[in-house]
Amino acid sequence: MRHQKVLVIDFGGQYTQLIVRRVREAGVYSEMVPWTAAAKALEDRPDAVVLSGGPKSVLEPGSPDLDFGLLEGVPTLGICYGMQLMAHRLGGKVEPARDREYGHQMIRTTSDSALLSGLSSDDVWMSHGIQVLEPPAGTLVSAQTDSCPVAAFEDVSKKLFGVQFHPEVSHTAAGTEVIGRFLFDHAGLKGDWTSASFVQEEIEAIRSQVGSDKVLCAVSGGVDSSVMAALLTKAIGERAVCVFVDHGLLRKGEAEQVVETFSRTFHPNLIVIRASDRFFRELAGVTDPEEKRKRIGAEFVRCFEERADELRDCAWLAQGTLYPDVIESGSPTAAKIKTHHNVGGLPDWMKLKVIEPLRWLFKDEVRAVGRELGLPDDVVDREPFPGPGLAVRVLGEVTPDRVRTVQEADWIFREELRREGLNKNVWQSYAALLDVRSVGVMGDERTYEQPIVLRAVESEDAMTARATPLPFEFLERVARRIVNEVGGVNRVLYDLTSKPPATIEWE
Ligand code: XMP
Repeated sequence: MRHQKVLVIDFGGQYTQLIVRRVREAGVYSEMVPWTAAAKALEDRPDAVVLSGGPKSVLEPGSPDLDFGLLEGVPTLGICYGMQLMAHRLGGKVEPARDREYGHQMIRTTSDSALLSGLSSDDVWMSHGIQVLEPPAGTLVSAQTDSCPVAAFEDVSKKLFGVQFHPEVSHTAAGTEVIGRFLFDHAGLKGDWTSASFVQEEIEAIRSQVGSDKVLCAVSGGVDSSVMAALLTKAIGERAVCVFVDHGLLRKGEAEQVVETFSRTFHPNLIVIRASDRFFRELAGVTDPEEKRKRIGAEFVRCFEERADELRDCAWLAQGTLYPDVIESGSPTAAKIKTHHNVGGLPDWMKLKVIEPLRWLFKDEVRAVGRELGLPDDVVDREPFPGPGLAVRVLGEVTPDRVRTVQEADWIFREELRREGLNKNVWQSYAALLDVRSVGVMGDERTYEQPIVLRAVESEDAMTARATPLPFEFLERVARRIVNEVGGVNRVLYDLTSKPPATIEWE
């Protein structure tokens, strides 16, 4: 069964991913493409289209554009830049706004607006310096603000809608209502995107993709790879061979925990490759974060290929890659921040073919699929952990000693968080070891040791994050314990930076 699809065309807006998420939350499948790839994507005739916002002006030569002839008959909602482009290309008029609008605004809707009249709130979020002066011919101006003469327009018969505000951000109080009205009342969509339908479709897709081959499922114990492995196991049974590489860069006790969880839940035959010596050899003398990631990624692949050779008939490597990684690596405009080893970081000499059954899902959807597959809460709600493990939390050279230091400090921090019940709203929490030394005094002795940084963040999807506000006395206690109990550490810091401008991991 093919489910209905909404194509979100990205003009470089900061909220484009949020549009995709909101549409999916409404139960309709959605994908996003950069505007440069829109013509090709529209050949598949999506059931509806949303045009995103963007930082450019439609009046600038060379700004992002679209052939609106390709949208003929497709219900379309233009947001901010998308709305302005619609007006510009369909015979309306666009001009630089005299009063730029940023933040909350009240809109006045026309009573006969099919999209906007009678909303539960008229409080919307605006962010624009260009505005529509005249809408396309034949469309109704459906909303205005004090400074914006055309805050929305619509042509119900052609199913064309434009809104200057951002219904996808939570600051627009009735944003979900607006998106729902577009999807269900005007585009006539059914809302057929559920985790149950995903599981069913993906099982069929996996079976037809891999035929009678075996698939090596690379598991880390994290939620993504566990859900991926459960899905593969459901699709092809024992031909899904789960392999866990213990690279010596895991948190304290984690390797044992992964083996225990797999045997307790769905996969008693987990193959464990103990490879810490190999990884530490590869990392000796390496301090550059990207070089660390590349070497770890390559060593993972060597471990997997060796094992696949032994298994015979194993041509595939399955990974738990998610949609945000795909978007980041596939967007021509997004700068590469880090090489996440499971996207784009695979060495070109790799022989195994890659299968990524979760590549269309956001993290919360992966968790829902995990529940659908019957995985227990402790797996589904597990904190994310990066593939390169503690190597990206040990700044500077990664040695067994320095990794042990981080493991001990990390254990204390997370044990205290658990004990105090402070881990409830924490997306991730960890300790990192810095590559500097500072002077301290312990007993009557001068010390010259390294600092530990504690990081705990709240997040919805790891794209943005905020430092968790932890009580000062709690942090003081953890700092005291770490300095007293972990050798080689004489200072403890708490990282207050949000993402952006920082990232969640230090490297
Ligand atoms: P950053 O540091 O980019 O991390 O804010 C965002 C999220 O991704 C995790 N992360 C990784 N996950 N392989 C992974 O599977 C990686 O190489 C990797 N690097 C970062 C990080 O822990 C956070 O949840």
